[in-house]
Amino acid sequence: EKNYPMSLLPYGLARPLLFSLDAEAAHELTIDMLSRAQGTPLEWAWCSPRVRDPVTLAGLVFPNRVGMAAGLDKNARAIDGLGAMGFGFVEVGTVTPKPQPGNPKPRMFRLPRADALINRMGFNNEGLDAFVRHVRNSRFHSAQRNSDAGQRMILGLNIGKNASTPIERATDDYLACLAGVYPYADYVTVNISSPNTQNLRDLQGDAALDALLSALKSRQGELAQEHGRRVPLFLKIAPDLDEPQVQAIADALRRHGMDGVIATNTTLSREAVQGLPHAGEAGGLSGAPVREASNRVIRQLRAALGAGFPIIGVGGVMSGRDAVAKIEAGADAVQIYTGLIYRGPNLVPEAAHALRRLRAG
Ligand code: FNR
Repeated sequence: EKNYPMSLLPYGLARPLLFSLDAEAAHELTIDMLSRAQGTPLEWAWCSPRVRDPVTLAGLVFPNRVGMAAGLDKNARAIDGLGAMGFGFVEVGTVTPKPQPGNPKPRMFRLPRADALINRMGFNNEGLDAFVRHVRNSRFHSAQRNSDAGQRMILGLNIGKNASTPIERATDDYLACLAGVYPYADYVTVNISSPNTQNLRDLQGDAALDALLSALKSRQGELAQEHGRRVPLFLKIAPDLDEPQVQAIADALRRHGMDGVIATNTTLSREAVQGLPHAGEAGGLSGAPVREASNRVIRQLRAALGAGFPIIGVGGVMSGRDAVAKIEAGADAVQIYTGLIYRGPNLVPEAAHALRRLRAG
């Protein structure tokens, strides 16, 4: 059944070592290792061929329907290393205009009995200038001009606001980031759904969302003129929205001509993890416990938006079957974060093959 090659370094060996470390230390070590070893023969330790299962979304040809979710590579240091895992698309960020340290540590926690994480990182990142420098330095960036559509990995750049920027001025931060990342992005994600930046999720409300999307769409038009290329804009939303709120967001997406939606970010709900160690930590819960809430939002978005509007489903994809469930809920493609931590790089080809089989069957 599993006719794809296993990576040389069995994650069954690496995981206990990584899990013996503090969660953020393990994360830092992994990003560091990926950024140092990417593009060298060591890459073979975790690489998988990119499964061919192309889909066109927002005018972009995605080579397959499994993506790296934002937040793992906040500073765009490991695009090539992540790409080698066989992702059809990799999203890096969230980047903010200025560098910022994020919240005090510890701020990332494992809940292994629930296949879950809680994080309150707070957009720790090196800022827009460093982010763009790293994207430009990636092999992906220099190689992409020459590679075929249909085989070429897609790069998403995810933008946010600094903690020090008052929420009334949030639009300024998003516009600055949009202009900065625009020339290097296949698509840009507008992240208004992190629970760890004060009041950020309020931007999902009617009036604030209207103002933000108007400003972003008009800047997108200007940048398209300037650069001779139209870069699609996706909006990333939370799972903690009721049906009328999802409906209102869907209306706004349509009204403003947004190019796609990414559903969902992490949840504030603790219902699924009550009583487990760390369940009381503040922050966003990800992994298996967010899966159903995310699938519900995807179903509601698809019902509201109709066929043809790009939806990327994310939240609790821990197996090929979970990836299939996202597509069945109405997503066109999926992303993974927490699943990669618990299952390792082989989850990427597993999910991509599961989705390709769906198409064949
Ligand atoms: C995230 N996520 C996230 N999303 C985003 O748009 N910008 C970000 O900076 C981050 N940062 C981040 C850090 C950590 C430690 C985690 C676990 C998650 C959210 C992520 O992209 C995804 O939407 C959710 O985690 C749900 O997917 P999974 O993890 O259940 O596959």
